[in-house]
Amino acid sequence: MTKRTVILDVDTGHDDAVAIMMAGRSRTLRLDAVTVTAGNQTLDKTLRNTLNVCSALSLKVPVYPGMRGPLLRPLEPAPLIHGESGLDGPKFPECTLESRKEHAAVFLARRIMKAPAGTITVVATGPLSNIAMALLLEPSIAKRMRELVIMGGAVGWGNITPAAEYNSYADPEAARIVYASGASITLIPLDVTRTVTLTKERLAHLSRIPGKGAELFTASMTCYSAACAKYIGESASMHDPCCIAWLEKPDLFTTEKKFVSVETEGTLTRGATVVDHTGVLKKDPNARIALTIDAQRFWDLLEAALQRYQMLA
Ligand code: BDR
Ligand code: CA
Repeated sequence: MTKRTVILDVDTGHDDAVAIMMAGRSRTLRLDAVTVTAGNQTLDKTLRNTLNVCSALSLKVPVYPGMRGPLLRPLEPAPLIHGESGLDGPKFPECTLESRKEHAAVFLARRIMKAPAGTITVVATGPLSNIAMALLLEPSIAKRMRELVIMGGAVGWGNITPAAEYNSYADPEAARIVYASGASITLIPLDVTRTVTLTKERLAHLSRIPGKGAELFTASMTCYSAACAKYIGESASMHDPCCIAWLEKPDLFTTEKKFVSVETEGTLTRGATVVDHTGVLKKDPNARIALTIDAQRFWDLLEAALQRYQMLA
């Protein structure tokens, strides 16, 4: 079977790290490159975290540094959840990877334009700054991507404000550009990712798998779970890895197609995901929105991914 070519755009981040791990040795996906944006932490930190994760997992994948902040606003990182480093918890061995020199947005535009149309899938698990910038550089990449899968937004209530999910809140102008781009978008919102929560029992079970994957998962999830409990009173949700689950096993999800945009100007609603549920705007749907996920089968996928790192002791 030909593997699907995927570029991950991340702001690594505990759950971004798990998404990289799942994609890195996927049976059905070929991780072509990782592009990095500022988000959970500054670009220097999210880039360092991305390189550390790829290096620790022996993933020989090119890593491109991207936007140092949102298109129009100062960066508002998320240190309470992800720590001062952006990935507190794991202790990494010496990093054997260096980032590429080309800017992530330039790379994305170049790579998608050069590849045959409809072959590159992009998964965005951070603020959409790199993706929006690539679309501004080369708008025709929107129609050339096979699919753009986004972890972001909240149809119901948010996590960074009552109305908004962090990635959409962090760079709402970028999100607005992306939703209006004409790309084939699949949105995996907070409403779905929040239903995949890591219990203590499951963490203990997964931590018994030998190898570097489970080692990294355990160290990062122990820290992430504690922060989620302390600061948002929630169990640790597997936000970003749900995007990989969507690509590997779409039948885990139910979805619907709707018109979606993002609020950029509200005083209480900056970054809110606005879904035209009833079609009052009379616009064609621009996104497939995930509604539910089979959480048990998600964990089966994650466990299988961790097992693929067993030989890496
Ligand atoms: C999103 O925000 C980040 O903190 C996580 O990595 C995830 O991408 C969840 O709102
Ligand atoms: Ca993220």
